[in-house]
Amino acid sequence: MQNRYKVAIVGSTGVVGKTVLKVLEEKNFSNCTYTLFSSKKSAGTKLQFLGQTYIIQELTEDSFNSNFDYAIFCAGGSVSEKFAPIAVSKGCTVIDNSSVFRMNIDVPLVVPEVNPEKIFENKGIIANPNCSTIQAVVALKPLDDKYKIKRIVYSTYQAVSGAGKSGIEDLENGIKGIAPKKFPHPIFNNCLPHIDVFMADGYTKEEYKMINETRKILNKPYLPITATAVRVPVKNCHSESINVEFKTNFDIYDIKMLLQNSPGIVLVDDIEKDYYPLATKADGCDDIFVGRIRRDFSVPYGINLWVVGDNLRKGAASNAVQILEKLIS
Ligand SMILES: NC(=O)c1ccc[n+]([C@@H]2O[C@H](COP(=O)([O-])OP(=O)(O)OC[C@H]3O[C@@H](n4cnc5c(N)ncnc54)[C@H](OP(=O)(O)O)[C@@H]3O)[C@@H](O)[C@H]2O)c1
Repeated sequence: MQNRYKVAIVGSTGVVGKTVLKVLEEKNFSNCTYTLFSSKKSAGTKLQFLGQTYIIQELTEDSFNSNFDYAIFCAGGSVSEKFAPIAVSKGCTVIDNSSVFRMNIDVPLVVPEVNPEKIFENKGIIANPNCSTIQAVVALKPLDDKYKIKRIVYSTYQAVSGAGKSGIEDLENGIKGIAPKKFPHPIFNNCLPHIDVFMADGYTKEEYKMINETRKILNKPYLPITATAVRVPVKNCHSESINVEFKTNFDIYDIKMLLQNSPGIVLVDDIEKDYYPLATKADGCDDIFVGRIRRDFSVPYGINLWVVGDNLRKGAASNAVQILEKLIS
C-alpha cells in the first residue's frame, strides 16, 4: 500500500462493523484514514482503533462530500439502499454487506477465494454475499471445478449473531426468561426454521439468498439448489449440512485432499478421534472448516459435508476487508 486512502466504515458500532475494525487492526491496515459512521443513536461514542481515539459520526446525506475512496457498509439494507448510491456518486467505491444490491446484474458478488476477478468489474458497488453463502461456496468451488456440481441441498444451523446485536441480546435475555424482541419465538432452547421473511411459496428470503447467490457466484444460473435455513441457540458461527450431487464419479479420499489443499479451507475430518468442525473452534477464524465428508449412497455421485464458518468474520467482515485489500493493491 503506497497511498493513503480515505475509508468510511458505515455501521461501525454493529457486530459486523466492530469485526471490520478488528480485522483491519489485525492486518495493521494503518495506511488509510478512517471515518466511522453509525446512526444518531451511537453518534458521539468514542472508540479506540489502530492506536487512535475515534468519535463515531452520524451518517447523513452530506457524509460523502469529503472524498472517500472506499466505504464498507454494514448498517443494513435500507441504509445501503439510500446511502451507497450517494457515496458512489461522489466517487467512492462501496463494499456492501447488505443484500440489496447482491443480485443486481451490474454488481459483482465476490468471495475472493472463488471469483476475485469480478472485483474489478464493479461500477461503484461490490456486494459481499450472505454469510451462509460465503462459507458454502468456499467449500463448493474446488469441488465444482473438478467434479461439476449437479445439485445442492443446503440445511443451515445459523448463529444468533447473524441477526446482529439484537439477535445476541435475544439469546442472552432468553436464558434469563426474558421474551424475545428480534426473533418471533424464544431462541433459547429452540431451533427456528425461519430466517428473514417468508415468501409466497413458503421459502424464506434467507433460503432464496443462498440459492440465488450460489448460482451467481458459481456462474451457474440454472443449478438446482434447495435450502432450509434454521436459527439455532449458538452465539457465533454458522454450521451447515451440505448435500452435493456431482456429474462425475470421485474418490472420497481425493475429495478430502482437494478440500485440504484449497484456499481458505481447513479439513477437520477424523471420526475416530471425534474430530469434526465445531462452532466453538471456528469462532474468531477466517478459514472455513469442513468435515464429516462421506458418500451419499442414495444417488450415483453424491457426498455430504459439514461446513462451519465464523459468520461475522469470513461471512462478513473479513471477506469485505479481503476485497478492500485487493482494490487497494
Ligand atoms: N451479522 C452477520 O453475521 C452478518 C453477516 C453478513 C452480512 N450482514 C449484514 O451486515 C449488515 C450489518 O449487520 P449487523 O449484524 O452488524 O447489524 P447490527 O449489529 O444491528 O448493527 C447495525 C449497525 O448499523 C448502524 N445503523 C443503523 N441504522 C443506521 C442509520 N440509519 N445510519 C447509519 N448507521 C445505522 C447501527 O448503528 P447504531 O449503533 O447507531 O444503532 C450499527 O452500527 C446488515 O446488512 C446485515 O444483513 C450481517
